Amino acid sequence: MLAPGTIGRAPVDRCVAGVSMKGVVFNLLEEVVIRHQDEDVWDELLERAGVAGAYTSLGSYSDEDMHKLLAAAAGLLGRPPREVLRWFGQQAMSVLAERYPSFFARCPSSRPFVLSVNSIIHPEVRKLYTGAHCPNFQFQDTDDGALMMDYRSPRKLCALAQGFVEGAAAHYGERVTFEHLECMHDGDARCLFRITWP
Ligand code: HEM
Repeated sequence: MLAPGTIGRAPVDRCVAGVSMKGVVFNLLEEVVIRHQDEDVWDELLERAGVAGAYTSLGSYSDEDMHKLLAAAAGLLGRPPREVLRWFGQQAMSVLAERYPSFFARCPSSRPFVLSVNSIIHPEVRKLYTGAHCPNFQFQDTDDGALMMDYRSPRKLCALAQGFVEGAAAHYGERVTFEHLECMHDGDARCLFRITWP
């Protein structure tokens, strides 16, 4: 679990993609904010966002709460919400590597790690957190060695996916370039990423 069980507001438990998100993701955001800022900043974010906090890892909470927290953080940092989400994904990887070392230990570098998200990581997450709506990605190798990654989700959290990939590369001490060729936020049916390890 990413955070000690907290007793607070009752979870939403409407486990529909695009409506509820597992508390573990909120716990992760809290951990990242506290590591990089402090507890006062987390409390201020909760207040600015107008959310109650006290998320339990196994509970499910409104996606709206996450958007409100990201908007509050964006206001506080003076950065667009998408950049805050990407930063969150980047920084979250080191927390995840501490909490779930086996996902990382089985992969020698970030490319196989990213490729294990459909086959190992998210299936395991779905078992641990009932009602988790983790996306499935489609991967394809290109002739010039890049990895094409196709992302579709009603949540449109492509910036989080980008941050996770970049954070994974940083965890393995590697550089990665991430191109966003198609984006659901621009009206495309999917997000398409071209990832290269130079
Ligand atoms: C490069 C690796 C990874 C990528 C690209 C990735 C991507 C994503 C994205 C984009 C989402 C948002 C949900 C959506 O789009 O509908 C998500 C959800 C999630 N992921 Fe991953 N992920 C990765 C690794 C991990 C790892 C290592 C863990 C934890 C061990 C994890 C746990 C979760 C959880 C708990 C959710 C929330 C599901 C929910 O609340 O319904 N992911 N992931």
